[in-house]
Amino acid sequence: MDQNRLLQTLADLPLGAVRYFDRLGSTNDEAAAWISQGAPDLALVVAEEQTAGRGRAGRSWITVPGSSLAFSLALYPTERNALFLPRLTALGALAVKDTLQYDYGLPAQIKWPNDVLIRRRKVAGILSEAQWTGDQMGALILGIGINVAASSVGSALRLEGDLRFPATYLEAELERPVDRLELLHNVLAELLRWRRKISSPEFLQSWEASLAFRGERVMVISGQSTGKDGLPVDLESQPPTILEGLIVGLAPDGSLKLRIDSGEVMTLRAGEVRLRPVEMTALR
Ligand code: BTN
Repeated sequence: MDQNRLLQTLADLPLGAVRYFDRLGSTNDEAAAWISQGAPDLALVVAEEQTAGRGRAGRSWITVPGSSLAFSLALYPTERNALFLPRLTALGALAVKDTLQYDYGLPAQIKWPNDVLIRRRKVAGILSEAQWTGDQMGALILGIGINVAASSVGSALRLEGDLRFPATYLEAELERPVDRLELLHNVLAELLRWRRKISSPEFLQSWEASLAFRGERVMVISGQSTGKDGLPVDLESQPPTILEGLIVGLAPDGSLKLRIDSGEVMTLRAGEVRLRPVEMTALR
């Protein structure tokens, strides 16, 4: 990968600006620094290698060269889609899931709120981080990591080590090499398409129809969702709540509806949660 090939491949997409790095700490950190210097909407940071990549809940997401896609996109909420902030965080997952399903024919699903799975194994993770000025969200950084080659799975496994959530990578699922630039192009095209429809019922329906473990018994380990508009809160700073139940679907704001044993349907906001099927908890 290099800046020229990247620019050529993405030339038909209305991105704000593109920066490529052979080696970087974290594309999310680079995007944050760029935003503070005035990055435009849809500014994209791509790195071949991340030495301090981050996942949710303070976990690390190391990206070794040639293994993965690691990129971050700066999104400034328009007045209209500011009303749909929780959906902004789902944009990445929906875009990756649709790309894998429609462009690569893979049975991708979304582990709520925004991991992407293939056959119950994690293939991509999304870290969305908001920049606030008072109670106004200035920008959202959508950081997306997709496991492409075998060498990506070591890092994904490290990331998930505490959860024992199995990982996979695209080249194993497809049994052929994957062009990472083409994949990036396709994911960004889907993301731009969904962003235009973020307030539509179709957005929610598609997200809901993509949910992994629907109708299955799952365990949700959650920090108390005091994050603004459902954006991630620091799990470490809050006592975790553990709930078990059946996934029923999504509420209009993207919260997860979980039917617990008493029959009551709980609504969980997309704060910092960890979700897994109960059958997997035997691995803990
Ligand atoms: C998770 O599954 O916990 C989220 C992983 C997000 C990883 C991506 S890779 C690009 C971007 N830069 C980072 O430092 N993290 C995200």
